[in-house]
Amino acid sequence: MSTEWAPSPTFSIPTDRLHISYFQVDNPKQSEFLVRLWNTEDFIKSCGNTGLDTPEKAAAFIKNRVQKDYLRNKHGQFLVSLKPHPDASLAESRPIGVVSLMKGEPPNAYSAPDIGYTILPEESGKGYATEASSGLLEYARRELGVKDVLGFCGHDDARSARVLQKIGLQFRGNRKLRVFGGAHSAVYAWPEMSQDLIVYGIDD
Ligand SMILES: CC(C)(COP(=O)(O)OP(=O)(O)OC[C@H]1O[C@@H](n2cnc3c(N)ncnc32)[C@H](O)[C@@H]1OP(=O)(O)O)[C@@H](O)C(=O)NCCC(=O)NCCS
Repeated sequence: MSTEWAPSPTFSIPTDRLHISYFQVDNPKQSEFLVRLWNTEDFIKSCGNTGLDTPEKAAAFIKNRVQKDYLRNKHGQFLVSLKPHPDASLAESRPIGVVSLMKGEPPNAYSAPDIGYTILPEESGKGYATEASSGLLEYARRELGVKDVLGFCGHDDARSARVLQKIGLQFRGNRKLRVFGGAHSAVYAWPEMSQDLIVYGIDD
């Protein structure tokens, strides 16, 4: 079996204003972008420090961690690029964020993936996280057979909670999540998913 997932560099999931695409191995522009995105004050305050503070570390992360998720699930972390005009190609578009649909590995995995997002601070508040998340979920349901989706955010993170609500997820309470080392998190799920979160492995 191939140890690298190599989707076409031109593949994208287009939405009205965005392209959502797989990260590419050995793409210095994407590594540099990830360093910029994940080291803003806003990101570190909300999500913590990833330690990916050089393009070399980001390139290794894309090659090892991001590609591993693609190989296992055909989803994981995706680049979000802004079209300069409605007909623009992916190549003509500019990276502004990351949207993710992540499913961990046992024993720290739930049976449904969770949706996540980061948008550059200067591009926030324009609906891009909502548009990217909705576009990715629609694609994952249609093409990848993903049925159930969870969403996690800090219980006092009203901005992130608002995105989860706008894409149609429902608040299901604050829980201790083993994926976050037992830290408390607000949990969201599709309205049609079971009320009993233990079905998805959330048991704390
Ligand atoms: C959270 C984040 C992804 C939102 O991206 P975005 O593109 O601005 O999101 P959207 O514009 O689609 O939606 C944001 C919503 O939150 C609302 N909002 C913004 N600040 C808010 C606040 N302090 N309290 C409540 N709602 C807030 C906006 O008004 C908007 O809702 P509306 O459309 O009803 O007006 C972005 O700010 C970010 O990357 N933050 C840093 C990383 C992060 O927190 N990631 C998620 C958790 S790890």
